[in-house]
Amino acid sequence: MVYESKHPLVKHKLTLLRNKNTKPKKFRELIRELAMLLCYEATADLAVREIEVETPMGTAVGSELSEKIGLVPILRAGLGMVNGIWEMMPGAEVWHIGLYRDEKTLKPVSYYNKLPTAPTVQVCLVLDPMLATGGSAVATVDILKNWGAERIKFVGILAAPEGIEALQKAHPDVPIHVAAIDSHLNDIGFIVPGLGDAGDRQFGTG
Ligand code: PRP
Repeated sequence: MVYESKHPLVKHKLTLLRNKNTKPKKFRELIRELAMLLCYEATADLAVREIEVETPMGTAVGSELSEKIGLVPILRAGLGMVNGIWEMMPGAEVWHIGLYRDEKTLKPVSYYNKLPTAPTVQVCLVLDPMLATGGSAVATVDILKNWGAERIKFVGILAAPEGIEALQKAHPDVPIHVAAIDSHLNDIGFIVPGLGDAGDRQFGTG
């Protein structure tokens, strides 16, 4: 399933993010805010268990999350999506996956993965602003499935139709949550109209 957010705040913030005049500080704020809004939508079906809580006035029946959540940012650009989400779910574990896209082949190259042998979380939220060819997302979900993650969701900001097709073909069980689906990829694998390079624009390295 692909979920393209319909939320007005998401659309507003995405437009600011796309603007080539948006500076890194503002760009980072927007990535953080968009990640929180998209995560809110992506986590609507998380399982909860019923618990009782004592209020100053008596006993209320409440809920607590019953699944252990893992946030899995794909380095580098996914890093900016972590902190806002983490504040909302402070009990989540964060597992970094380092991949970069070879500029010639556009294939992902793995350079960091410290997952322990046994899975420690039930639900993984893969975080990466850009789903371009889909190679990085497919490789990350491959890694998480081999690790033993039971349920995986992809949360991104922009997707190209090519990336959605690749991820759905390789992993049809992984729902995709994004702020928008753009027109296409250009000949160097950038999303058009897109927002440029999400890593460089966050870290000021462009
Ligand atoms: C970009 C982006 C994604 C990936 C998407 O990362 O942040 O991780 O490319 O492309 P794909 O869907 O075709 O795999 P990049 O390789 O530029 O690394 P960086 O985030 O470290 O800058």
